[in-house]
Amino acid sequence: MEPLIFKKNILNGFQELKNGKFGEVRISCLFNGQKYQLILLTAECFNDIKLMELLSRWRKKHEFWFQAQFPISAERTIAWFKNKVIGAPDRLLFIIKVDDLYIGHVGLFRFNFENLTCEIDNIVRGEDNVVPGIIGDSVAKMMEWGKNNFGIKNYTLQTTSDNDKALRLYDKMGFVEIKRIPLLYQKTEEGGQWIEAPAEYNEPIKRYDVYMELKK
Ligand SMILES: CC(C)(COP(=O)(O)OP(=O)(O)OC[C@H]1O[C@@H](n2cnc3c(N)ncnc32)[C@H](O)[C@@H]1OP(=O)(O)O)[C@@H](O)C(=O)NCCC(=O)NCCS
Repeated sequence: MEPLIFKKNILNGFQELKNGKFGEVRISCLFNGQKYQLILLTAECFNDIKLMELLSRWRKKHEFWFQAQFPISAERTIAWFKNKVIGAPDRLLFIIKVDDLYIGHVGLFRFNFENLTCEIDNIVRGEDNVVPGIIGDSVAKMMEWGKNNFGIKNYTLQTTSDNDKALRLYDKMGFVEIKRIPLLYQKTEEGGQWIEAPAEYNEPIKRYDVYMELKK
């Protein structure tokens, strides 16, 4: 297929899924005898204030691991969800549901149309200790779904050198480091953010961005 038509098809496909009803796109999974589901978050979800508050709580809980720290609120989460999740042409976010409980989310972002790879994104365990191992399994099931439905050939991701839990998880799944970028922490009016350290920066480096790729 023509590369441009292929790109258009993929992006239209993502948008169509995100404009659908919440619950329509779900991946049914089984892990260690536990049934669970990955449900695609769709545009209508920003009207669900309880869900937006839950995402805010998880974002706050794990703020240390994110690139920027700032006061988190449901309003900001709604804006992020509208503009950066639903509004981003190549981003999908699935919530993980075990019985009646949402326990975290996993996503796909930044489709690379030249080599048909995509990043795994927003991998978050919101609720501790529920079905250990389920986050890794969710990522694996989502990657399989992406291969089957959108022809994604391989996956990449970005994490940080001090995030031991994430590195352990990705290492077990077969991701290998392909690049790292030194960072420095910069205070901002709202809190702070990690930015790329310039070449002349000569303080000890506390955190690197680590880029990984799934070994085939
Ligand atoms: C990174 C993160 C998602 C990992 O979550 P998690 O709960 O460790 O992931 P899993 O559910 O797959 O569980 C794996 C853990 O359960 C253990 N486990 C127990 N029983 C298991 C089983 N049957 N199968 C697999 N793992 C099992 C594993 O050994 C592992 O523990 P370890 O980290 O001590 O080695 C979580 O720490 C998190 O949300 N961090 C904050 C956000 C973040 O940094 N995200 C990543 C950004 S790149």
